[in-house]
Amino acid sequence: NQEKMVALYVLLFGQICVASCVLPIGSQPEQVHLSYPGVKGSMVITWTTLNATESIVEYGLWGGKLFTQSARGNCTTFVDGGSEKRKIYIHRVTLSELIPGFTYVYHCGSEAGWSDVLYFTALIESTSFSPKFALFGDMGNENPQSLARLQKETQVGMYDVILHIGDFAYDMHEDEGRIGDEFMKQIESIAAYVPYMTCPGNHEWAYNFSHYRSRFNMPGQTEGLWYSWNIGSAHIISFSTEVYFYLEYGLDLLFRQYEWLKGDLEEANKPENRAARPWIITMAHRPMYCSNNDHDDCTKFESYVRLGRNDTDPPAPGLEDLFYRQGVDLEFWAHEHTYERLWPVYNYKVFNGSTEEPYMNPRAPVHIITGSAGCREKHDGFIPKPREWSAFRSTDYGYTRMHLINSTHIYLEQVSDDQSGKVIDSLLLIKDVHGPEAWL
Ligand SMILES: *[C@@H]1O[C@H](CO)[C@@H](O)[C@H](O)[C@H]1NC(C)=O
Ligand SMILES: *[C@@H]1O[C@H](CO)[C@@H](O)[C@H](O)[C@H]1NC(C)=O
Ligand SMILES: *[C@@H]1O[C@H](CO)[C@@H](O)[C@H](O)[C@H]1NC(C)=O
Ligand SMILES: *[C@@H]1O[C@H](CO)[C@@H](O)[C@H](O)[C@H]1NC(C)=O
Ligand SMILES: *[C@@H]1O[C@H](CO)[C@@H](O)[C@H](O)[C@H]1NC(C)=O
Ligand SMILES: *[C@@H]1O[C@H](CO)[C@@H](O)[C@H](O)[C@H]1NC(C)=O
Ligand SMILES: [Fe+2]
Repeated sequence: NQEKMVALYVLLFGQICVASCVLPIGSQPEQVHLSYPGVKGSMVITWTTLNATESIVEYGLWGGKLFTQSARGNCTTFVDGGSEKRKIYIHRVTLSELIPGFTYVYHCGSEAGWSDVLYFTALIESTSFSPKFALFGDMGNENPQSLARLQKETQVGMYDVILHIGDFAYDMHEDEGRIGDEFMKQIESIAAYVPYMTCPGNHEWAYNFSHYRSRFNMPGQTEGLWYSWNIGSAHIISFSTEVYFYLEYGLDLLFRQYEWLKGDLEEANKPENRAARPWIITMAHRPMYCSNNDHDDCTKFESYVRLGRNDTDPPAPGLEDLFYRQGVDLEFWAHEHTYERLWPVYNYKVFNGSTEEPYMNPRAPVHIITGSAGCREKHDGFIPKPREWSAFRSTDYGYTRMHLINSTHIYLEQVSDDQSGKVIDSLLLIKDVHGPEAWL
């Protein structure tokens, strides 16, 4: 009898344990990341739970009493487009009236579960701020080779902002969206500490870019497809090259984006605006130029992004002319899993400042392709003989650092993760004049 009782207890206890140990704690916050909404003194905190909960951030100044302030936001249900129609809950809270330059300690969640304790520094709004960036594209859930180095560098405060130039996770929608969850958990170690600013890439195509649009919270009203924001002496424009390729989601998106880009550039070029924020920097996924040996359109002569498309009705305008006419200074791209720096270039022609100092008062925009952060597709290769606009190329895994020094100087360098963090390329871009008059 006693033996029977023991067996029964073991059985019962076993079942309780199976039930409570195997079920995920669905109210526990995960995938915490930050973004800057483009409004002075604010920061958006986004995270996910597997069950619906309230959305609360508790925070306070570093060194002070913990969690003296709290803010509430809201939660939306995101339904993956796959057969399971899997649901996750995405929480967004905007903190406002932060003191620029001060560091805050925070955690997020609800009374049903809190994140780890995290921290960030509120962005300085002054145009004389000299922010530092890490930037890259094409980082995956599998083989994210640069991530470890970025984690340490971000957590010790080397960067104010991270720019991810499209292609996340490979792919966020896979395994009913679980790959997206895993990837967002992986990047929490960088994205929960500094604003993580994004643009869409081709790997986000599934279900009309719904994972991208829902998981990230960028400024503006387009769910992060195209937007701009200001930091220090720069106006940064992020947009979607994918509107040129996924026409099934609407050709109108391509035209809407073009009109928006034109309007945004005209506004940024108003004399008082360009004087305050003289640098205009763009970021988008697929490059206008590249010298890779794959079958992308930049390898050939007719990049859609550069020249537009004439097989649509009406024909779709490209962006090289617009950006040149509006005096864009610097253009970041990714998609090719390599790093490539170009001499100042317009319409395949090199416009060096001078032969000795090509980046001192260049007479055309400067393009950088930085898509080598690491993903399951590994590296891309190069054609053997680069064209004359190609200045430096590397197939090493790595990422780019940018220091926006002031209104005349930007310093860029390329970090090789394969070579233990060695800086393999650098460039000082100097401009005494910004805007289209700089090309004369
Ligand atoms: C949490 O979510 C799971 C999966 O959607 C569901 O089965 C479960 O009932 C939820 N739990 C609560 C407490 O709502
Ligand atoms: C979430 O909050 C934001 C800002 O308060 C608001 O604009 C938005 O409409 C809210 N969304 C929902 C679904 O309540
Ligand atoms: C795709 O999403 C965009 C942005 O939300 C929307 O404007 C467009 O109509 C959608 N396209 C389709 C085919 O649903
Ligand atoms: C259309 O574009 C293709 C590729 O860019 C080009 O070869 C062709 O000449 C263009 N056709 C017209 C009519 O402009
Ligand atoms: C641009 O400058 C670089 C570096 O001095 C030089 O190698 C290249 O030939 C120049 N290109 C042109 C077209 O002047
Ligand atoms: C910008 O910084 C550079 C390098 O420190 C310096 O030489 C230059 O004078 C500065 N320009 C302005 C306008 O302050
Ligand atoms: Fe890509």
